[in-house]
Amino acid sequence: MDQPIPPGPGHNTPPDAVAAQVAREAARRRTFAIIAHPDAGKTTLTEKLLLRGGAIQLAGAVRAKGDRRRTRSDWMKIEQDRGISVATSVMTFERDNVVFNLLDTPGHEDFSEDTYRTLTAVDAAVMVLDAAKGIEAQTRKLFEVCRMRDIPIVTFINKMDRDGRDVFELLEEIEKTLALDVAPVAWPVGLGREFIGTYDLLRPSLHLMADGSQPLALSGLDDPRLDAAVPKNLVEGLREGAELATALSTFDEKAFLQGTMTPVYFGSALRDFGVGHLLDGLARYAPPPGSRAADLRVVEPEEPALTGFVFKIQANMDPNHRDRVAFLRICSGRLLKGMRLKQVRTGKAVPVNAPLFFFARDRQVAEEAFPGDVVGIANHGVLRIGDTLTEGEDINFRGVPSFAPEILRRVIIDDAMAAKKLNKALEQLTEEGVVQLFRPLDGAGVVVGVVGALQLDVLGARLAAEYSVKARFESTGFDLMRWVVTEDRIAEEKFRRTNSHDIAEDHDRNLVAFFTSDWRRKRAEEEHPALRFVELREQH
Ligand code: G4P
Repeated sequence: MDQPIPPGPGHNTPPDAVAAQVAREAARRRTFAIIAHPDAGKTTLTEKLLLRGGAIQLAGAVRAKGDRRRTRSDWMKIEQDRGISVATSVMTFERDNVVFNLLDTPGHEDFSEDTYRTLTAVDAAVMVLDAAKGIEAQTRKLFEVCRMRDIPIVTFINKMDRDGRDVFELLEEIEKTLALDVAPVAWPVGLGREFIGTYDLLRPSLHLMADGSQPLALSGLDDPRLDAAVPKNLVEGLREGAELATALSTFDEKAFLQGTMTPVYFGSALRDFGVGHLLDGLARYAPPPGSRAADLRVVEPEEPALTGFVFKIQANMDPNHRDRVAFLRICSGRLLKGMRLKQVRTGKAVPVNAPLFFFARDRQVAEEAFPGDVVGIANHGVLRIGDTLTEGEDINFRGVPSFAPEILRRVIIDDAMAAKKLNKALEQLTEEGVVQLFRPLDGAGVVVGVVGALQLDVLGARLAAEYSVKARFESTGFDLMRWVVTEDRIAEEKFRRTNSHDIAEDHDRNLVAFFTSDWRRKRAEEEHPALRFVELREQH
């Protein structure tokens, strides 16, 4: 298994110098994702963030559907047709010496496991709420995933330029429904059509929409310049609201970093207001890459030796090549072009000749990358989701999850000759994380599992476009699937014998059970107390 990894470029640099550089670079990284319910304004905010970072020149480029898209494979058409982002992408931009890595998560209701996995690769999240709607179903779902890892969350209440709900009511809703303390760091001046800007509660100053990005520094709410700058009918409301908000809660950085308190910003992504303030907040308060637990020890970002894990695999945009890009989140050390890394799962050496940085407009070949960065590594299916890469050490990062799929379908093909091709295609797409694959132990046809129905469309389109396999998906009659975990071989054997029609093996040959209802699952738990039926499994 163990294969010595030959030293790559950069091995001549004294370790102390590398450690100092890594510590410096890690400290200025902010790696985050935006979580939002569809329509709250995530795309608009992303555009404005990238504009501020100089990553794109034109607003609208994030949604550009021109030639760039046309070169992509067929399944990307789903993305175009539905106007939603199917694939998770990474965008890097720099502002005031801070490097921001924004990991985009699909915002559609029908999201996939990619969304969850992306959240394992970030150090903070921005939660975007629509001022008129507050917390919505998907906000809550994504928030719960963040909470599992105690990811610090910055809240951005968007669409303040439109008639929204009472601000105190919104804050209370966040606090109540998410059990998360709130601390407004700004207070809106006017609401809806009267909204003209915000007052910064932490660093007393007035940000007016009309003034572009130049805030007016003030001594506090009593500053007479406030009366000069804000219309009479709004100034009293501002003073009252801001005083009450300050009395109710103060921002506590430690609680924020522990994931129990969220600072709240207000703005309008559409009008490009409040976005700079939010970025300043991320730069100031969001954490740089921190320590990460691996199976054998905790890894610190400033360690000079490179470690990282693969959280996403994406098929190459070019349908003529079977290349895949593995997205590696760097946890420690320095990645240099030309390095050979060890894939801990297999002990194999993986050459990293052309790591890709994902700028919003283009992919660029990176010379070096640091903790917090995400780089793409092109490979022919060697790398898998959950893989740990190191410079030789045998450690595995924990926590890239597989979720029990909510939709189970049998794959049907009319052309029996295509069975072998289908098998190979499904295996490849499973390794890419597009679907989960289950082989029923009674010999029935393969079952695919997905978290959202959109994933089935993607699967069908890709099978047709990339493998020339026409497949249909039929109901299995099962509503639930769980992994069966136990140390008790006899109990497992008994379960296998008594449930031979409802069990299968996943791609890694783990035992899974299918159920027709949650009631059935509960029954199985009662009948087989030595077994656990788990919903979430870590890769490897
Ligand atoms: P999403 O990615 O979270 O799904 O939301 P997106 O940014 O696409 O925004 C959803 C709609 O809300 C868009 O309008 C967008 O223009 C609008 N919007 C976003 N931010 C603001 C804001 O701060 N104020 C106001 N008033 N509207 C905002 P649309 O009509 O659905 O799309 P489009 O035709 O404008 O692209």
